[in-house]
Amino acid sequence: MFSFQLISTLASAALLVSATSTHRGGNCDTSKSVLDLPTTQTTLIVPSTAPLFVTLGVGVQNYSCTSTTSAYTSIGAVASLFDISCLAETPEFATIQATASIIWKNAPPSVKAHTIGRHILTPSLLGDHYFVTSGTGLAAKWDFTSFGRFAGNTTAFVIAAKVGDLPAPTGPAANVDWLALNNVQGALASKVFRIDTVGGQPPTSCVPGSDPISVKYTAKYLFY
Ligand SMILES: *[C@@H]1O[C@H](CO)[C@@H](O)[C@H](O)[C@H]1NC(C)=O
Ligand SMILES: *[C@@H]1O[C@H](CO)[C@@H](O)[C@H](O)[C@H]1NC(C)=O
Repeated sequence: MFSFQLISTLASAALLVSATSTHRGGNCDTSKSVLDLPTTQTTLIVPSTAPLFVTLGVGVQNYSCTSTTSAYTSIGAVASLFDISCLAETPEFATIQATASIIWKNAPPSVKAHTIGRHILTPSLLGDHYFVTSGTGLAAKWDFTSFGRFAGNTTAFVIAAKVGDLPAPTGPAANVDWLALNNVQGALASKVFRIDTVGGQPPTSCVPGSDPISVKYTAKYLFY
């Protein structure tokens, strides 16, 4: 079993933040962050512009098991979004979601997602990801209105709808799909991508009517 403290220390020692002077949405130049997609896929269409925000999401995917089925259905997610733009040119950038996942999965229940950034030297919390009701269903929202330079800015959010869905290129049974989503409301961004997912998938079956579950996950979210 991993020691939470030990892993945190190792991760902190490994990640030396190199800041550049250009500030876009986050703390560092986002133009150095590449959305690395498998060359063979055509489902997620990446904008040619630099991202506005490059973030690490740490949180849970929630699922329920209705009384009539034995398969879990998604009932939303809750995640904290950390600015990782300053890591873009470091070797650690590519694997930050895996590093964070080890720390998050081994953290005791008392450790909340919004504190995980401290353990991977990306303490800058940019926002929250959660779901809101929209018509008869749920809509994904990324909300930057509570932190940093967008604190109090009521338009600094985006609600977006899925336009592209790619099973995770590695370990799709364990790792949630990679997604492209387009803005339906809010001024924060016109497009959102979820990539480099670790975890978040539910077990393949459930006992009908059993309690909802939360499955820990990490991912990169990039905003354009
Ligand atoms: C997801 O589950 C967590 C507890 O693990 C809870 O705090 C959160 O409100 C739930 N969110 C949704 C959308 O179900
Ligand atoms: C508020 O946030 C939006 C979206 O990020 C941004 O376009 C706008 O410039 C911000 N307004 C102010 C006054 O900072």
